[in-house]
Amino acid sequence: MLFDRIKSLDAILTTAAKNSLHRSLGAFQLTMLGIGGIIGTGIFVLTAEAATKAGPAMMISFVLAAVVCGLTALCYSEMAAMLPVSGSAYTYSYATFGEVIAWTVGWALVLEYAIAASAVSVGWSGYMVGLFRDLLGFNIGPTWTHGPLDAEPGLFNIPAFCIALTMAGLLYLGTKESARVNAVLVAIKILALSLFVILAVPVIHGANFQPFNPFGFFKSEVMDPASGHMVAVGIAAAASSIFFAYVGFDAVSTAAEETKNPNRNIPIGLIGSLAICTVFYLLVAAGAIGSIGAQPGGALATSHDALAYVMRAIHYPLASKLLQIAAGIALPSVVLMMIYGQTRIAFVMARDGLLPAPLAKVHPKFKTPYVITMVTGVFVAFFAALFPVDQLADISNSGTLFAFAAVTIGVMMLRIKLPNQNRPFRTPFLWVVAPIATAGCVFLFFQLSFYTLKLFFAWAAIGLIIYFFYSRKRSGMAPGRG
Ligand code: ALA
Repeated sequence: MLFDRIKSLDAILTTAAKNSLHRSLGAFQLTMLGIGGIIGTGIFVLTAEAATKAGPAMMISFVLAAVVCGLTALCYSEMAAMLPVSGSAYTYSYATFGEVIAWTVGWALVLEYAIAASAVSVGWSGYMVGLFRDLLGFNIGPTWTHGPLDAEPGLFNIPAFCIALTMAGLLYLGTKESARVNAVLVAIKILALSLFVILAVPVIHGANFQPFNPFGFFKSEVMDPASGHMVAVGIAAAASSIFFAYVGFDAVSTAAEETKNPNRNIPIGLIGSLAICTVFYLLVAAGAIGSIGAQPGGALATSHDALAYVMRAIHYPLASKLLQIAAGIALPSVVLMMIYGQTRIAFVMARDGLLPAPLAKVHPKFKTPYVITMVTGVFVAFFAALFPVDQLADISNSGTLFAFAAVTIGVMMLRIKLPNQNRPFRTPFLWVVAPIATAGCVFLFFQLSFYTLKLFFAWAAIGLIIYFFYSRKRSGMAPGRG
């Protein structure tokens, strides 16, 4: 039977207890980890892409993506509080749909976390190159700062490669130290976005919101002259791209196994971090559009350091430099969070026998899953070195939306299958919230460009081949094992 290997909740909780990580994180640290994962390349870099795809109507795209993420976060919270173990959507799917779907979700989460880490590394690289140019008057050129598939091609993106490896190194040394560094970086990002809002919002002109909606609501595909690829435009297409700006809140749930009092702290971390970021994004988007306009092909849409560009355009050159510096210092916290999420999921998959066992080794001194941390760091670094940021972000979104949809369906299935299970957090109005969340995730998934969807399905096919030729036999749930 293909769909027979469903893990019981008790089995998941027992396995986690046997081979567990040290519980050191509280509600505040989790919220900081959440914000650390959320605010990043999405708002600092991809705001320009949103303008390209939807013009001023990107305000609606930001709201649409926030609503889908908010509803999904409510579903995640019920799952995470009920199953306070590492592994996120992968683990929840194991308990709900069985092994083959769990594997597919875990495989999609590689796109979500590892590819997102690569995307943010590339975004950081772009800001650093700009900073070098503006502060030191030194233009490095694309050869060693762009990947070969970039619109302006280079050979190997060295800054992106190095930042990915550095963040993996921090994680190797331990969560607690890394979370402390993360808290400082989060504070810098919040200050930077606050500065932007304080300076940009007072100079909003209503006229800059016109024409409001150049491409309509649903996606249509047009040729992007810069990359030569077909790109999807329209409010919903922009939402499926800018969705990247919200990804990261769910990474909080991957820290469940290292959280004190997870039943209370995980929902606070998830929903708190998402709510704070949503308020900032809407203010930043309104400030950017209202102060200088956001027409496709216009100055904002074609800028490489969107928020810093707005500051220069409204005559705050110092604020522009401060934003560049803040992004340069703070975007690495997102890389850190994403690599962290990836390593914890792969750790659990290895513990379950689906990935090679040595990956689950815990370091005797640092108490971290150091083997998978090194492997992930190298993987993330090479993708960052070779691919452009917008493609990486959209590919990451495809994996994330797939995993989110699985969680929102899973939470409903478990309510039916295990109605009496202890649920420290219950999703309010589940039978309204979860179906809308599922529909939202599926809708945004299919608003991604055809190119992105092709890559997603190719990745899923490779994953299924590995599952049936390797993982299925070695699974802890295979006959005679466990
Ligand atoms: N949400 C994260 C970012 O915007 C991934 O960079």
